[in-house]
Amino acid sequence: MDNPKLALVSPSKDIEEQILQYKKEHFDYGDMQVHGTGGLAYYDNFNEWLSHINTIKDMNPETGVRTSTFFSKRVSDGKLIGCIKIHHSLSDEIKSGGHIAYGIRPSERKKGYGKAQLELCLEFARQIPLHQVIIACDKDNIASANTAICCGGVLANEFKEDGVIKQHYVIELT
Ligand SMILES: CC(C)(COP(=O)(O)OP(=O)(O)OC[C@H]1O[C@@H](n2cnc3c(N)ncnc32)[C@H](O)[C@@H]1OP(=O)(O)O)[C@@H](O)C(=O)NCCC(=O)NCCS
Repeated sequence: MDNPKLALVSPSKDIEEQILQYKKEHFDYGDMQVHGTGGLAYYDNFNEWLSHINTIKDMNPETGVRTSTFFSKRVSDGKLIGCIKIHHSLSDEIKSGGHIAYGIRPSERKKGYGKAQLELCLEFARQIPLHQVIIACDKDNIASANTAICCGGVLANEFKEDGVIKQHYVIELT
């Protein structure tokens, strides 16, 4: 899957150095989370993280749900630009977090890549197939909300979780 700007690639040992550099850029920037990566920030060992990603691709034993994780690679030079993960279904346990979580590396934000990456992930969602996806974001995360909105997201509800106001945006996949 690709578009003029980006192509989705699965995490692999082949791009370990690029993934570690992607993580480092977040830490250098002061982001202690690496959004959309299935917890890359919390793994000191790359192989353990990769094994986790490959396990949840088939079935996350903790949630009973399949979760696919992709990096988006810039077509022109192969640089990793962002990361996005998608749950193939939602159990009650993970419903509040929505289907999709995403991030773009700090140096490449506000250039249209967040939208391009989400569009690619929605194409994948249609193939699963999903007919609707929910994207959750903190109400004060305007960048995340706008990314969902510019891909067709419609505000469905607001709720409080752990003292934080969150929103659900729904995207109908036709
Ligand atoms: C959210 C995020 C992925 C957006 O990526 P991006 O590449 O900057 O987004 P884009 O350039 O494609 O912009 C998408 C839309 O959001 C808007 N936007 C982007 N950053 C914004 C900001 N800081 N404030 C307000 N709007 C913003 C853009 O204007 C665009 O809307 P438009 O088409 O109506 O103009 C990026 O900011 C990020 O990685 N944030 C940290 C991780 C995170 O919060 N992830 C979401 C929670 S899982």
